[in-house]
Formats: sequence, structure tokens, C-alpha cells
Amino acid sequence: MPLPNVISLNASEPHHALTIAPPPTELVLNGRIRVPGDKSISHRALMLGALAEGETTIAGLLLGEDPHSTAACFRAMGAKISALNTEHVTVQGIGLGRLLEPEDVLNAGNSGTTLRLMLGVLASQPGCFFTVTGDSSLRSRPMSRVVQPLRQMGAELWGRKDAAFAPLAVQGTTLRPLHYHSPIASAQVKSCLLLAGLMTEGETTITEPALSRDHSERMLKAFGANLTVDPDTHSVTVTGPTKLNGQAVVVPGDISSAAFWLVAGAIVPGADLTIENVGVNPTRTGVLEALTLMGADITQEKQRLVAGEPVADLRVRYAGTGDRPPLRACTLAGDIIPRLIDEIPVLAVAATFAEGTTVIQDAAELRVKESDRITVMANQLNQMGARITEQPDGMEIVGGTPLTGATVDSYTDHRIAMSLAIAALAATGTTTIHRAEAVAVSYPDFVTTLEQICLT
Ligand code: S3P
Repeated sequence: MPLPNVISLNASEPHHALTIAPPPTELVLNGRIRVPGDKSISHRALMLGALAEGETTIAGLLLGEDPHSTAACFRAMGAKISALNTEHVTVQGIGLGRLLEPEDVLNAGNSGTTLRLMLGVLASQPGCFFTVTGDSSLRSRPMSRVVQPLRQMGAELWGRKDAAFAPLAVQGTTLRPLHYHSPIASAQVKSCLLLAGLMTEGETTITEPALSRDHSERMLKAFGANLTVDPDTHSVTVTGPTKLNGQAVVVPGDISSAAFWLVAGAIVPGADLTIENVGVNPTRTGVLEALTLMGADITQEKQRLVAGEPVADLRVRYAGTGDRPPLRACTLAGDIIPRLIDEIPVLAVAATFAEGTTVIQDAAELRVKESDRITVMANQLNQMGARITEQPDGMEIVGGTPLTGATVDSYTDHRIAMSLAIAALAATGTTTIHRAEAVAVSYPDFVTTLEQICLT
């Protein structure tokens, strides 16, 4: 039976306050759950489906606000996308180079992936003019990382601070190929340029300093693009112009959403949770490696390949004994960072329950996510009694300091809201998380699943 008093949601418009009050001893986390579809793969399935010829079908799509933004943008440019649902979405593609010029501004909402990837598509559509924007968080996030290389390809873009920030205007044109050495390991930069390269005659190559998630590479190949990958140099080359053919895409569960339950299972005494059907693409599994290094008991069951992406069921069991902290501190730095970048907020929660000082480095990118995730996580967890010191590119977390309930804020960032909810489950006393409605960006059913796994 769920514990009715553990979780309550005060949905007084326009913001939701999520209150979590775990009982002092008897809270048990137990069950088999599923997480929503992978956000990165959902965006790409909608976009490539819209750019392909013929029909694309998508099973398991994430129904969060971000994929709705992608679908709305591509519908406005002529793609016929059925109502979004998790079972079966159909996309009637328009074909590369045949986008219609939208009559109105394209709005990417809160979604950096929608905006940055779409810029590669728009910049390479000769003859069409586009304006693009997003919500206040997205309008403050840097766009130069894609604008600069696109301009090197000949793209025409305008906006505030020399097109560093949305709103942006784009005059689509014929681009020239480029070999771009990206200063950051970013799948959004890589994917933007690959999409621009689809329409561009010749070889467009992106070399990144470390490997970022490779969903675009996998899906572009499946759709028939002429694409080669050099794993030794972290380089990928697309040879254009190329044609895409509609495919049947199956979206696995999002490991970034599963991460909340993995950390909950690792820090709440007695927990035993199985998260079914999670994507375990090696460019995304840094969180499993980090938690295992910290002593968490996580196993992968029923490993399989679904539509070109590795998938498994993940089981986590609380591994603490007696009064000892359930985890031990670790250092996270270097090449693993891009493979767990979105999971760092919830890993910071895990680190507060670890023995010793956890050090997170090389993660300055966190400062330009949906919020400044270094400052926000440090401040909010410190309100609950954590001992976190900010660093320019990460944080130091002195573990083993018990958390107590407090009033905290998501800063409208979905992953902050959910990370704080997991911290609250293992804290003593009551925590209230303001602006918790942000969870709908990537995990609309988060609170329902939280209620489902809290047992007496
Ligand atoms: C994403 C790439 C990552 C990640 C984001 C989704 C993607 O961003 O943080 O949530 O789908 O390509 P960066 O490419 O900026 O690191």
C-alpha cells in the first residue's frame, strides 16, 4: 500500500509545491517500474522522421514537454506528425530540403536539444527564412557553440550578442562542408553539424575531445545517411547530400530518468527497485559506473538490443549495513563527465550519503544547462544540511552529513526538482520543493511513480 502521507502536491497555480515527509523508520522503496522514453532519442526520432521520405513510426516516445516542442516546430514546417502518445506515433516525412517556411516564430520551449539541433536543419534549407526562440531559460543559454561552426559552413544567422542568444533569425542557404574540431564534447553541437551536413555537398566531419552520446550517429545510419565514425579520434563524418528513409523507431526508457530511482535505491535503507527497459548505450552509462564505484549494488538484467540501442532492466538494492554510510566517496572527472552530465545533480545527492569527500571536476557545462546546476544544487542541498562547496567546474561534497527537510526550489529545472525529491526521501523531516511542475519537461509521471514505490 502506498503511504498517503509521504507525498503531497499543492497544485496552486501557476506553480506546484511538492511536499515529501518520509516516516522516521518504516519507509521502504520497493517495486518494478518503468521510466518514460529517452528524451534524446525521442527528439531525434521526430526530427529524422520529419526530414525523411516516407513514414516513420515511433514506439515508446517520451510525452514530456520537450518532445512536444520538437513536434510543434516540425509540424509548423510541414511534417505530418500524429498526436503524440507512447504506443504508436506516425511521422509523414517531407524530405530533406523540402521544409516549408513557417509563418510564425518556431518555439523550442525549454529544450536546448530542439533549438540547437534544429538550427543545423534550418541553416541548410536554401531559400527559407526562420525565426526561433524559447522560454526564458533557453533564451539565456549559449548558442555560439553551434552558430560559430555553422557560420564557418556559410550559414546566415542573426540574434542578440552576435547571435549568441535566442531569439535568432536564420536565412537558410547552401552550405559548404567543414572539418570542425569542437572545443567541447557536446552531442548537441555534433548533431547540429551532422544535420547541416546532410544537405551539404562533400564531407562534414566533427571531432570532439571526448565521446558524447551517439544516438544521432546510430539513428542517422539506420535512416540511410552516408555516415562514418572513427572511434579512435572521436570523429564522425557525414557525406552529403544524402537522403533519409523513414524507419520504425523503438525508444528505450531514459537512463537519465532511471538515475533518480537508482540513487533512491542506493540511499534509502532496505530499498529494492527494478527499473525495466532502460537504454544502456555506453555513451550514457557513466551513472552506472559512478554509483558502482561508490559501492551501490546495481545489476543489469535481460541485456538486449532494441532497434539499434542496447537495453536492460536495472536492479538496485540498498547496500548499507548498520550505521555505516551506504556509499563511499569518489572522484568524477575527465572523459566520464559527458557520459553522466545530466545525472550529476542526482549523483550529488548520492555523494551526500557517501563516506568521504566526493570531487566532481571538468563539469563547467553544468553552469549552462536548464539552470546553473552547480550553484543551484549546492545551495539547495546545503539548505538541507549538506556540505557542498562550489568549484568553477564542479563541486566538492563532504559526505555523511545527515540531511534534514527544508523548503527548497527547482529554479524551474526538471532535473533539480527530481534530484531534490530523492534527497527528501532519505532526509529526516519534511521537504517542500517549489516550482516542482518543472518535472513535466522530461518526466510527467514522476510523482505518480514516486507514490507507487513508497511502501509501508
Ligand atoms: C543532449 C545532449 C547533452 C545533454 C542534453 C541532451 C542531446 O547536452 O546534456 O540533456 O540530446 O543531444 P550537450 O550536448 O550540450 O552536452
